[in-house]
Amino acid sequence: MKLMYLIILIAAIFCSCELVTTSEEDKQNITIAAGGGEGSKIMEIAAQKYMYENPEVSVEIIDITDLGNDRMEFYLQHLESEDPEYDIYMIDVIWPGELQHHLVDLYMFGADKYVDCHFSAIIENNTKNGKLVAMPWHTSAGLLYYRSDMLDKYGYDGPPETWDELEEMAAVIMDGERDEGNEDFWGYVWQGNAYEGLTCNALEWTASNCGGSFVSPDGEITINNQQAIDIVEQAAGWVGTISPSGVVGHAEEDARATFQGGNAAFMRNWPYAYSLARSADSPIRDDFDVAPLPAGDSGSGAATLGGWQLGLSEYSANKELAADVLFFMAGYEMQKMLGVESSLMPTIKDLYADDDVLEANSFFKNLYDVFTNAVARPSTVTSDQYNETSERVFAGIHDVLTGSQTGASAFRDMEADLEDLLGFPTGSPKCD
Ligand code: GLC
Repeated sequence: MKLMYLIILIAAIFCSCELVTTSEEDKQNITIAAGGGEGSKIMEIAAQKYMYENPEVSVEIIDITDLGNDRMEFYLQHLESEDPEYDIYMIDVIWPGELQHHLVDLYMFGADKYVDCHFSAIIENNTKNGKLVAMPWHTSAGLLYYRSDMLDKYGYDGPPETWDELEEMAAVIMDGERDEGNEDFWGYVWQGNAYEGLTCNALEWTASNCGGSFVSPDGEITINNQQAIDIVEQAAGWVGTISPSGVVGHAEEDARATFQGGNAAFMRNWPYAYSLARSADSPIRDDFDVAPLPAGDSGSGAATLGGWQLGLSEYSANKELAADVLFFMAGYEMQKMLGVESSLMPTIKDLYADDDVLEANSFFKNLYDVFTNAVARPSTVTSDQYNETSERVFAGIHDVLTGSQTGASAFRDMEADLEDLLGFPTGSPKCD
């Protein structure tokens, strides 16, 4: 199947050079603000395919910075100044509330034909006051990557089921590998930089430990509780022991570089890293697997819900055409391509029963429950204040990780900050 998409891409590029009669200046342009690793590659293939089928259109994809918070700042600069430069924006699953006033209602352009085939929870997430702010493009959830060869070598039956087990296994494997001469080997790599990715990691720690999700879906600030403090302090203990000291400056690609380079026993990352770590030039291509993240006191692991959507700018000069491009990009054929060519996860339910997709990514099926039970960040309840909420959360938690504040004081401050920001009451997290 991969070969088929390569042929489509080459044919599209070749034909767009040879056969197209529309001159460059007569073409209608649609520009997409997107980018970021695997997403760029996939979107480029989809754009080539669209242009092949619609030679009078030119679709340009602009790579915006990888770090979510910087990307949001960039988007807001353009949207708040009503800039028509970008027609389509690739937006994070947490942003529909924040960007709703700058993006058109996709139902006005025929989205009702498509919505039913997508996961309903994501459609609901992207719907604000009855308006479909963005079309789901791919979904995601945090996973534990582990070195299966190392587990065998050190006599473990399977991946760790609790954070305590992870800690212990990571230390044993790391010490063993270092004793054999690999001084660069680490036990566990993850995302500890002060940015959105840390909010995702921290949510997995707290939710798995009965410590809640910072702000509950019904609007209570639950962040300041002992279960959350304990697990974040436990994570602070990993820094400089089983995890490099530099983990407090790491994002997804830093973790992947270490793990894929063969220098870590465990990694927390999103599904996109799977196909990259399996690629022909990856030294660990046959030596790793994925599992649910470990559990704390709740008895089960938690995976943060991630993923990206496509929204249509209110300020686009060519909304009809941009909507057509957008629906094509998020449609069945292109989502199938995404599920075969990469390990980004489709949002179209039927693709999880598609043989080609499952052949490329068998873990979609094995870990289906992890993906469908993923924990949402509190972006619906905080709506256009989500970004600020998350900034306070990751800054406070980063302070605990770097040791510049104790857990108790950081969590007390975060609670007070969130009360000021949101005006919500405080409460205790629920844990089943
Ligand atoms: C991934 C997720 C996204 C999340 C980001 C954090 O891109 O899909 O939802 O916000 O990582 O770094």
